[in-house]
Amino acid sequence: MTVLSTIARSRTVAALTSPHGVDHYLSRVNPMWAAHEVRGRVVSVHRETETPGAPVATLTVQPTATWRGHRAGQYVQVGLDLPGSARRMTRCFSISSAASGAGEAFTLTIRSHAEGQVSRFLVDAEPGQLLHLSQAQGSFTLPVSPATPGIDPLLFITGGSGITPAMSMVRTLLRDGYDGRAGRPVTFLHYARSAEDQIFAGELERIASDDNDVTVHLRYGDAVFNELELRRLVPRYRDTDTWACGPAGMIELVRAAYADNPRLRLELFKPPAVRTDSAEGALTFATSDQQVANSGAPILEQAEEAGLSPVFGCRMGICFSCTARKTEGTVRNVLSGAESSLPDEDIQICVSAPVGDCVVDL
Ligand code: FES
Repeated sequence: MTVLSTIARSRTVAALTSPHGVDHYLSRVNPMWAAHEVRGRVVSVHRETETPGAPVATLTVQPTATWRGHRAGQYVQVGLDLPGSARRMTRCFSISSAASGAGEAFTLTIRSHAEGQVSRFLVDAEPGQLLHLSQAQGSFTLPVSPATPGIDPLLFITGGSGITPAMSMVRTLLRDGYDGRAGRPVTFLHYARSAEDQIFAGELERIASDDNDVTVHLRYGDAVFNELELRRLVPRYRDTDTWACGPAGMIELVRAAYADNPRLRLELFKPPAVRTDSAEGALTFATSDQQVANSGAPILEQAEEAGLSPVFGCRMGICFSCTARKTEGTVRNVLSGAESSLPDEDIQICVSAPVGDCVVDL
């Protein structure tokens, strides 16, 4: 740490720059100067696919010195001040590059979604674009040191954009000298819509053909994950440390194949669709004095349909940006199915659906 950064982080400077904080003033001089916050500059943009309506790009991001690095498989929250928008928008994106150290550049591989303002903007971003970042987050990671002895055979099962955290792990393994020939093979099973839609296609081909004991199985089109095929490819899959990431439908099939096996680690890319046919009761937004018929969808969606604009980030139950106080009623977590009826409870409204009458402070 330099003397200047030590001074910038001191209590004296914090008091002198209150209430805005030292980072507010540093950013006025240079957006890449920061004492506490993390920001990043896009240094290059590489198109991975040109899938109509959903192209994918990899952005290389140089973070500020405040970036503490990431472990393979983690994600980062990206805040953007979009042109014409008064509110900063934040979304979570998996880091696709190998594990990084403090202050080191990393990559984000992002698919543009028609309804996703942030993803659409980032996929078309220009080098130089400034991003507001969190530190790396998430526990969907490899053990601390992937190249050290003691790691057993590994299995990655991914679908669509769910390949990005697994790619970070495989890249880390290969960069750090992982040797599968020592009886610790890696199997990578990935499902994509088509060969044209395949992210990292060239690199996966190279990995598959290199002498590294990493086996790559790519499935396209209507192929869906099924236990029989998994059993054929990895007969001892239940004894294999497994990371699965992808759409909710695929994750449910993988979960069923492993039952409650603790060797399976899961990461969803989207919460599952919520049943709305049996919803009943009323959802009350106490702060804005509005009430709607409960549709059974997550409270965030119902609030937006009612014209409210709650703060949110990932919309997947990860970042806690959307936390709001529920004062009455029962909610169901759409990821876990768990219900809670506690009064005055802080809930993540992006993944909490009302069960009957419910009141939230929105
Ligand atoms: S928006 Fe991230 S947890 Fe709800």
